Amino acid sequence: MARRWTNTLSHEDVTPKALFLNRRQLIAGLGAGTAMALMPRDVRAQDALEPNTFEEISSYCNYYEFGTGKSDPKEHAHMLTTQPWSVTIDGMVERPGDYSFEDIMSEMTVEERIYRFRCVEAWSMVVPWNGFELADLLNLAGVAPEGKYVAFETVLRPDEMPGTRSRVLDWPYVEGLRMDEAMHPLTIMATGIYDQTIPNQNGAPMRLVVPWKYGFKSIKSVVRITVTDEQPPTSWNKAGPREYGFYSNVNPNVDHPRWSQATERRIGGGLFSRRQPTLMFNGYEEEVASLYEGMDLREFY
Ligand code: MTE
Repeated sequence: MARRWTNTLSHEDVTPKALFLNRRQLIAGLGAGTAMALMPRDVRAQDALEPNTFEEISSYCNYYEFGTGKSDPKEHAHMLTTQPWSVTIDGMVERPGDYSFEDIMSEMTVEERIYRFRCVEAWSMVVPWNGFELADLLNLAGVAPEGKYVAFETVLRPDEMPGTRSRVLDWPYVEGLRMDEAMHPLTIMATGIYDQTIPNQNGAPMRLVVPWKYGFKSIKSVVRITVTDEQPPTSWNKAGPREYGFYSNVNPNVDHPRWSQATERRIGGGLFSRRQPTLMFNGYEEEVASLYEGMDLREFY
């Protein structure tokens, strides 16, 4: 694997053209008129947006281990020690073991990916993540052929995580992906935002980002990754199976039982803060729809 650092690369170097979400970059490459004309209308409506500010991204968070309020993580997450850090990779892998954060980072290619982020509560942001492909990490451990799913676990340290005194969720926070979802090039482990170390409240030192799924799939501060042949449990599915399925793909046509998923409210953004239509697979339909061909997405929500 190549060892390079994101700062030396421009966005064009590291992000496939189809993934561009930032109108500025398109305009820079094509000239404003051409760029707008080439964009389909529904994409124009949503993607003609600047990324959210670092302040917005790091102030409005969901990280229940630090409390259920949006500002609780920012207030309390400084208590979490993120150094040293290691991730146990086990289950159906060829090289199981504890991988230190430093060793992982020395093997990974860290890039910037500007992704739309859609929370199941119907708010959204645009986030410039720095991270590496989860596939590269899984390949480091070597997935065995019988591995069909990937399970993830967040660190659990009640002394550093005051929110875990409440039974709002069953701790530790756990998540899961099917192997093809985990290996998809859009799926990353984020380690930074705006080229800065990822703030604790956003899931330091590494958190999952799966941009076509609702935000709760983005498990934070990961300490264990287990390759298995069975669909793993997920925290929100355990808490409310009727409301939160295993797949959790962003889908404007399948409502959450208590509210519509057809539109979203952009956090921040003044003029742009009015509700916008939510796009199928959060706008990544072209890249990921084939993963779900033949599946009834109402049943597998
Ligand atoms: N991971 C852990 N460990 N604990 C959590 O409470 N919340 C999830 C997800 N990952 C959560 C978590 C939810 S509901 C969302 S919407 C996203 O993190 C929010 O990520 P952000 O705070 O970086 O925007």
